[in-house]
Order: sequence, then structure tokens, then C-alpha cells
Amino acid sequence: MELKLCSLLLHLLLLLPLLVGATHNYGDALSKSILFFEGQRSGRLPPDQRVRWRRDSAISDGSEAGVDLEGGYYDAGDNVKFGFPMAFTTTMLAWSVIEFGELMPFDELRNAATAVRWASDYLLKTIAYPNRLFIQVGDPIRDHNCWERPEDMDTLRTVYSVSSEKPGSDVAGETAAALSAASMALRQIDAGYADRLLEGAFKAFEFADTYRGAYSDDPELKAGGCPFYCDFDGYQDELLWGAAWLRRASQNDSFLNYIQNNGKTLGADDNINEFGWDNKHAGLNILVSKEFLEGKVFSLQSYKESADSFMCTLVPESSSPHIQYTPGGLIYKPGGSNMQHVTSIAFLLLTYANYLSRTSQYVNCGSIAISPASLRAQAKKQVDYILGDNPSKMSYMVGYGDKFPQRIHHRGSSLPSIANHSEFIACKEGTIYFNSSNPNPNPLIGAIVGGPGEDDIYEDDRADFRKSEPTTYINAPLVGVLAYFAANPNL
Ligand SMILES: *[C@@H]1O[C@H](CO)[C@@H](O)[C@H](O)[C@H]1NC(C)=O
Ligand SMILES: *[C@@H]1O[C@H](CO)[C@@H](O)[C@H](O)[C@H]1NC(C)=O
Ligand SMILES: *[C@@H]1O[C@H](CO)[C@@H](O)[C@H](O)[C@H]1NC(C)=O
Repeated sequence: MELKLCSLLLHLLLLLPLLVGATHNYGDALSKSILFFEGQRSGRLPPDQRVRWRRDSAISDGSEAGVDLEGGYYDAGDNVKFGFPMAFTTTMLAWSVIEFGELMPFDELRNAATAVRWASDYLLKTIAYPNRLFIQVGDPIRDHNCWERPEDMDTLRTVYSVSSEKPGSDVAGETAAALSAASMALRQIDAGYADRLLEGAFKAFEFADTYRGAYSDDPELKAGGCPFYCDFDGYQDELLWGAAWLRRASQNDSFLNYIQNNGKTLGADDNINEFGWDNKHAGLNILVSKEFLEGKVFSLQSYKESADSFMCTLVPESSSPHIQYTPGGLIYKPGGSNMQHVTSIAFLLLTYANYLSRTSQYVNCGSIAISPASLRAQAKKQVDYILGDNPSKMSYMVGYGDKFPQRIHHRGSSLPSIANHSEFIACKEGTIYFNSSNPNPNPLIGAIVGGPGEDDIYEDDRADFRKSEPTTYINAPLVGVLAYFAANPNL
């Protein structure tokens, strides 16, 4: 009897961390993180559209230049289609499916694939003409000057493109990466379509590499894309990134040779610990080191070393300089929309952990070796912070948990829906809704906002776009991360 009680107590003690540590409903968060992309859709919406407060919008995009550029995603809380971050979003959504798709419930895998395809269909349109790539639709100054639903949009839909005379190796290189990754993510569902994507990727890469330059060096394109999505760090990283994705998707040695022959001149050794729509270095190091870890290509060792040195800045055990955290434990980089860094770094932590554990290897941090489990624990802390384990005790995903952002900086979400208010709401007529302190009438379920400041404080203020605006590239890497934790809630 006593023995039984003892063992019961022991069991309870073992269970305690589980009971107290109230794990999150990662599966629910996963579904919502994918649903978010339906709210960002541009163009004609299909009958199975689940976000019902949205309607068709921008259906004649491209007509200004006599081409079809309908579709794609609005990048954030405005109604512009910026090609550079849209391509990066596509790469990350596809990479989420490639690494973690097999862990997703069937319905969510299908929804994630649909979200990838919505973007890749658009990217194929942007490369439909030789030696030209359409990089943006919408005049951002005019657009940002209005608080207008996408369905009402009457601002200039200026079409911007790069060409042999005005090169854009950054956008073209990222487009090559996106189409390659999408071809891998969608191959099982539709092999013919995957082949088309891969052909498009070849084409985009050839264009990027032949006509080298940054799009924001051109005055007209600079006026269009900057200051929103200027190419600040140069196009070199996107050439390597595009080649690395083409290598992975096609297994063609010519891209491996490209990486080996051009790595130095294109700055592979710069070893910059950044990963986002502008800077691909940290992601490139992890992607490329996979082949080295698998023991296939020894000459790629330096990529593993660079990947390790980034990982060492993320784990407390190492003695290297560490990345900045808020007092509550959130990765923090100044500059606004901080969650983009959090989700992309969490993605890299998990992806690298998988590459290492499948090949029984470790992160080398000088005198100590860091295990894949330690990387996963760091990723989990970040995700749990996003979902509610934080000083404000709120979730930063709209519609997840009991307390979440109510006044996100998002035109469609904050204006009355067409269903409730079919009359046109003109550019400046939207200001009263922008200024209102009421919650948004149309919750954009699954949207992750830019997030709290370096003091963990979040005011839920619609005007404060650095904190309250969602973006597609915040959500895209999180899709993979949530798939991992939905399948492994306790790591
Ligand atoms: C590999 O890529 C190069 C172009 O970079 C191409 O010329 C060649 O045909 C490709 N090889 C295969 C087997 O697809
Ligand atoms: C109209 O708005 C109310 C809240 O303001 C909301 O409850 C309702 O679902 C909306 N109706 C439609 C058709 O969107
Ligand atoms: C909106 O708020 C700004 C300041 O926050 C104010 O200048 C402006 O007059 C307000 N506009 C309307 C239409 O309420």
C-alpha cells in the first residue's frame, strides 16, 4: 500500500513539469499561421476561400504595362505587392514544407501547399518575359497615404521591373530561390508544375547572374522600393542563395561548382549573422552545410563553421558574444518588426538541429559541443514567448489564446468589411477607422505582429506599425516551426 502511494507520488512528480508547464496548442497555432495567408491574398479569390471578409482586389494588376500580374500577396498591412519580400516569403513557406511538411496533419499540409502555390503562380508571371522581371505593383507612397481596403483600392498600380539595363540580381536571385524551393515543396502533389517552377528558377538565376546589380541602384526603382524594401546589403548573397536552392532542388553539379567558384567573391566568408528578406547569410550557411554534414562535399566545411558560429550566439552554454534578448527572453533586434527575426531564427535553429541529429553531429562552440536538443530548446522558448509565455501574458498571434492584439496595423482588418459596408470607402475616409481605439472589426486570424519593444511592452496601438503590423515573412518560417512543435510538443 505504502509502496503504491510512493510510486504514485513519484509519477505525479514526474508529470508535474507537464502539468505546470501548460504546453501550448501548437496544432491550433499552426492552422492559424497558414490561414493568415488567405487574408493577404491579392487578385480573384477562389470559391474555397476561408477568410470570408476578403473579396477580389487588384484584378487588373499589370495592365498598366500590358501584362498580367494578378495574384500574389500583399506584404503586410498595406496593399502593395513588393516582389523582394514576397519571393523571400515564398522561399520560407516552401522551406517550411520541405523540412517539416511530413509532420503536418494532411489538411494543413494541403493548406500550406496551397499557400506556396498562390505565391509561385504569381512569381511565374513575373518572369514570363525574357530579360525582364516584374518586381513590384503599386505606388507605395500613394498607397501608404491612404487607409483603404484592398477591394476599394484606387491608387496608382504602377508596375516596376528590372531588366538587362536595370539589373536586379537581388530580386531575381531570391525569385530563383523561391521557385526552386517551391518546386521541391510541391513536387509530390504536382510533378509537372514542379518542373515548370524549376525551369523558371533556372531562368531567373541566369538573368540574375548575367546582369548583375542591385535594383535599388536605379533611381526610379529606388523611388518605388525604398525606403520600404531597399536592398541595403547588396545582391551578392542572393546569387549564392539562389544557386544553393537550385543545387538542392535540381542536384545539378553546375550550381555546386558555382558556389565553390564564386563563394569568396560573393562574400560567403563575410559570415554575417543575419537572416531576413534583405540578408540571406545565416540561412545560406545552414542550407549549404547540409551537404557537408551528409559527408558529400568536404569543400563546404566553411559553411558549417559559419553556421556553428551563429548558433553559438544563440545558446547560453557558449562563451561567444550573444544575441540581444528582452528581459522576458525574446530575441530582439532594433529596427521594427522584430518578430521577423524571432521566427526566422527559430526556423534556423530547428532546421539545423535536424541536419545535425540526422548525421549524429554537434555544434562546435570552441571548447564545448552543443547538441541539437539544445538548439530545439532555444527555438521552443521563442515560440512559447510568441504564444503567451511572456511578461504581458498575451499571445502575439491574432486569434490564438485568450488575449491577443486587437488593433493591428492592417487596412483590410481595421476597416469594415465589404459584407457589412458595401459602399466605397475612399482614401481619406478610412482615417476615422485608423484613428479609432476600437478593436479591428475583421480579426486577421493567425497574423503575428511585429511584437513588443526591447522592454517586452506592447501597447496594441494601430498607429505604431513597427509593433502592430503583421507581415508575410514573419509568418512564413513560423509555419515550419509550429509544425515541428505540434508533432513534438515536449521537444
Ligand atoms: C545543369 O545546369 C546547367 C546550367 O547551369 C545546364 O546547362 C545543364 O544542362 C544542367 N544539367 C542537367 C543534367 O540538367
Ligand atoms: C459585421 O460586423 C459585426 C461586428 O461589427 C460582425 O459581428 C459581423 O460578423 C459582421 N458581419 C459580416 C457579414 O461581416
Ligand atoms: C486622426 O488622428 C490624428 C492624430 O492622431 C489627427 O491629427 C487627425 O485629425 C485625426 N483624424 C481624424 C479624421 O479623426
